[in-house]
Amino acid sequence: MTEQILQLATDKQGDLTLLQMTDTHLYSEPDGELLGVNTRDSFLAVMEAVLAQSQQYQAVLATGDISQDHTEASYRVFTEQAKKLSAPCFWLPGNHDFQPALQTEFAAAGISACKHIISEYWQLVLLDTQVVGVPHGQVSEQQLGFLKRALGQYPDKHALVLLHHHSVPAGCAWLDQHSLKNADDLFAVLAQHDNANTLLCGHIHQTMDKQYQGVRLLATPSTCIQFKPNSDDFALDQQEPGWRYLTLKANGEVDTQVHRLIDAGFVPDANATGY
Ligand SMILES: [Fe+2]
Repeated sequence: MTEQILQLATDKQGDLTLLQMTDTHLYSEPDGELLGVNTRDSFLAVMEAVLAQSQQYQAVLATGDISQDHTEASYRVFTEQAKKLSAPCFWLPGNHDFQPALQTEFAAAGISACKHIISEYWQLVLLDTQVVGVPHGQVSEQQLGFLKRALGQYPDKHALVLLHHHSVPAGCAWLDQHSLKNADDLFAVLAQHDNANTLLCGHIHQTMDKQYQGVRLLATPSTCIQFKPNSDDFALDQQEPGWRYLTLKANGEVDTQVHRLIDAGFVPDANATGY
């Protein structure tokens, strides 16, 4: 099986800068709320802040849970905004996504379904870890095969592997039961490739930046509600929506920063007891 490969140009310094927006949880209805936060309004506020930053980036990454209600109209909210961004968008599904509607709307908006992107010094591999109907994730044999082929094809390029689910415990017991179930299979593949040492995910609605088995694991706040770090039971955080930039350097280093809205008031219902 031959997968599509898309090529991205670096900036003048040879860097590849990426904008990640994750877990938008959009609804078709303008007043759709997730635990007291209007997810469309919070996403639009993030978009406004991103556009105001005028940061240069070569690609936008949507790392799953784009919709909360499975509707084509909810995906259209995302694609309408993506058009305003100055770089092509790439995506992978999260546990909440409904891929038939996602694929239909994103294709209609001209957003590529390509999952293997190469640049001068780096390659990006976007994995589908969704197990339909459940919150946890799994890398299928098919997806592991895809990753192996991608990494084997360009062994000299540094690799950023993207997926929705977190692959090691985040420190929140209630969330960690919904992690990537066969993370060992994924790490076994990464261990075969010296240049595959950065994983980027969403799903946990909080910032993570840790090392595990020689791999840097990054997670990014949602554009809507945030989960409280280091909480065994379900708990919401009062932090504002966020997004992340990553600059992939020619030497394999990754410079990255999380940004958040400031005093925007998108804080969830403190009395919520579940998600
Ligand atoms: Fe999510």
